[in-house]
Amino acid sequence: PLISPIPQVPAIYSSIGFSLFAFLVTIYLVPALGPPFVRANLKGRDLLKTYAVPIPESQGLVVASVYILSLLLFIPFAFARPFAKLANAKPSSEGITVLEFPHHQLAVYLSSIISLLIASFLGFLDDVFDIRWRHKLPIPIIASIPLLLVYFAEHGNTTIVVPLPLRSLLGNLLDIGPLYYLYMILLSTFATNSINILAGINGSEASQALIIALSIIVNDLLYLPWPVGFRIPLHLLGSPRDIEFGGLWGAGMAMGSQVLVERHLFSLYFMLPLVAVLTGFLYHNWYPARVFPGDTLCYLAGMAFAVVGIQAHFSKTLLLFFMPQIFNFILSTPQLFGLVPCPRHRVPRFDPETNLLYPSKALFFKSPSKLTTLILRVFSTLGLVELTVHPKDGTILETTNLTLFNTLLVRLGPMNEKRLNQLLIVTQVAGSLVAFVVRYGLAGLVYDG
Ligand code: UD1
Ligand code: MG
Repeated sequence: PLISPIPQVPAIYSSIGFSLFAFLVTIYLVPALGPPFVRANLKGRDLLKTYAVPIPESQGLVVASVYILSLLLFIPFAFARPFAKLANAKPSSEGITVLEFPHHQLAVYLSSIISLLIASFLGFLDDVFDIRWRHKLPIPIIASIPLLLVYFAEHGNTTIVVPLPLRSLLGNLLDIGPLYYLYMILLSTFATNSINILAGINGSEASQALIIALSIIVNDLLYLPWPVGFRIPLHLLGSPRDIEFGGLWGAGMAMGSQVLVERHLFSLYFMLPLVAVLTGFLYHNWYPARVFPGDTLCYLAGMAFAVVGIQAHFSKTLLLFFMPQIFNFILSTPQLFGLVPCPRHRVPRFDPETNLLYPSKALFFKSPSKLTTLILRVFSTLGLVELTVHPKDGTILETTNLTLFNTLLVRLGPMNEKRLNQLLIVTQVAGSLVAFVVRYGLAGLVYDG
């Protein structure tokens, strides 16, 4: 029978139940715990407002606690069937009970939770001590050790599928061995930090994480063995193949493996409660924000994405969902690596008169090097920054800060904070739509898998 019930599908219902519960707890706890956070000096001033009321900072700690707690409570439900089997196991003829328990799956689950805990811990330390970014950079590397070890233990593959045009040179599959582990380490470092540097306006951190999580969920759903299937006629758009989901020909079935279904269920178990806690938090963080996420939330969300991308083996698709973050990171590099001065805050400038945001600027104290000038000129030609140059010799005096927010303001003109965050959401959603087209449409042109 082709439509065999996949054993663990029902656990998805308990996951949904836990997520609803996590949502309610978060929406209640975040404002309730605000005053104790302020008393503990975990507070910040809203840089883009006229008022100076202290806003509770690092509320990502509440989000992380509810999230990780619901993941822990869910474990018995995720493994309900194997547990039941264990309980009913009959002793064999020699009187030994043969235990069949998916220990590797439990290891994957537990190691993922360890990584999430380390990431939240790091984020919280960063909130409290304001760690210099050079020093905190290696910490996600340590946080990913449990992940990588489990990946290694389950003979996780380190081969990459070679794109069709390069096959004559490299063959179909290329084993990149240790480099693959390096890639996964960089992935978790990138995921955690990239959200943190696309931040500073009300709702931005939680909104982008929410859209990424929802995109991952949509992608996961494509791999579940739905009783009815559907087909997207991509050949009409020039793609060599249609995509088929669900039913007898579902992506999961077609690729012939229950493993694929299980991996995407695992991803769902981590993403559903994440969406729940982020939504609950965003309710209070939306403009005008009553709470701030702190680095704790950025690191938690980033690590959650790295975890599912690595453990469920869809890291390339994951990176496609990070397009705005990748753009913001590349744009930021001259400031991150010290070519352009980097002020403590690169958030847009707020004008209390008009209540609008304008691009903020970085000032050169000494004239920029040739390389810096070249990079900034290129950025300026691409319309990403606005430069102020010396009227006589043309040396660059200031540049708008190198962030996606400032670029949006340079391109589209001043707007208020809420608009700018809505624009971020639109950008993130548009990025995800492009990601799906690239992954399931264009990828067919360079990959056959
Ligand atoms: C990162 C950015 C920094 C940006 C900051 C804002 C880089 C290299 N660093 O630094 O440019 O200014 O995030 O989050 O790109 N805040 C608001 N409104 C909000 C959220 C935060 O005003 O909606 C302010 C508050 O004062 C809050 C502070 O930002 O206390 C938090 O900044 P923090 O997370 O410590 O900054 P970094 O992550 O170090
Ligand atoms: Mg931060």
